Amino acid sequence: MFKIPPISAERLPSLLRAMPKAELHIHIEGSLEPELIFALAQRNGLTLPYASVDALRSAYAFTNLQSFLDIYYAGASVLLHEQDFYDMARAYLGRAARDNVLHTELFFDPQTHTARGVAMETVINGLHRACHDARAELGISATLILCFLRHLSEESAFETLEQAMPLRDKIVGVGLDSSELGHPPEKFARVFARCRELGLHLVAHAGEEGPPAYIWSALDVLKVERIDHGVQAVHDAALMQRLAQDRIALTVCPLSNQKLCVFPNLADHNLGKLLDAGLAATVNSDDPAYFGGYINENFTQVFAATGLTAKHAYQLAFNSFEASFAGNADKRVWEHKLKEAFERCVEHDY
Ligand code: HPA
Ligand code: ZN
Repeated sequence: MFKIPPISAERLPSLLRAMPKAELHIHIEGSLEPELIFALAQRNGLTLPYASVDALRSAYAFTNLQSFLDIYYAGASVLLHEQDFYDMARAYLGRAARDNVLHTELFFDPQTHTARGVAMETVINGLHRACHDARAELGISATLILCFLRHLSEESAFETLEQAMPLRDKIVGVGLDSSELGHPPEKFARVFARCRELGLHLVAHAGEEGPPAYIWSALDVLKVERIDHGVQAVHDAALMQRLAQDRIALTVCPLSNQKLCVFPNLADHNLGKLLDAGLAATVNSDDPAYFGGYINENFTQVFAATGLTAKHAYQLAFNSFEASFAGNADKRVWEHKLKEAFERCVEHDY
């Protein structure tokens, strides 16, 4: 294990920004900034129910997950053509590269688009081309995870999987998102089993607002490799032990949790508790255009609010590489760059 050099509290924010990291929990539709929503609406001849960018942004006051989802799905309705999906993803990847994200696995919600008559290939080809170009132009590695909307039926998830099969090579895995309460993971047992047979990686949102039981069933019924959010695990000691023992990563999203009132005060966030219990937690932005910050803002704000240390920072970035679905050779290169960033920080290079 790398010995963390001594780093003062004043230098910690610049280290958090400069350190290489992976982002594993980002809904690409949640990176759609109000300015881009308006630009795409205009390009596509659509009228929005908001008079201006500022009016739209001022509607971003959420009380829980559902109050956010209603406005998030409305924002995504401006996406019609392959170029729209490309522009959205390319904008996010440029922003992530500036935050020293070396690798990211982008969630997308095809049912939000196919329900409006947009073809699956329009969605996937636009996103995939942005990932391809960003690698060439920015050196960032990016892959795609198709998410099923859990408020819809398992039959609809099966249809979605069927539509995506001709583009199987352009996705690395599947996930489960949208309204959690009342839609437990086991509702999707058969479609996840099928995805597993197809060799897709599996993740699911669980324990954001939902109980620890949903995390158990995501693990034991769906057989997921990572849990998205998972912060409710602290209420179940046996579950904490299981997550630590099996090195199941949690993709934690501090600003999302604050904005959706999971933890009304960032100072009350349990990220430190999860790490100190030996869980493989990571920090992510979830829906950065809606929750007030990209990944570095999530790092700097949660560290400032809860008093986490350089050791936690190293662990979080290391976990993000380790928990990714990238190959071992890439992981070793990224982890080496992470150590170098910590050493450079001590030498006061930034
Ligand atoms: N939870 C569930 N579904 C979502 C989220 C989230 O935080 N963001 C976008 N879809
Ligand atoms: Zn999410």
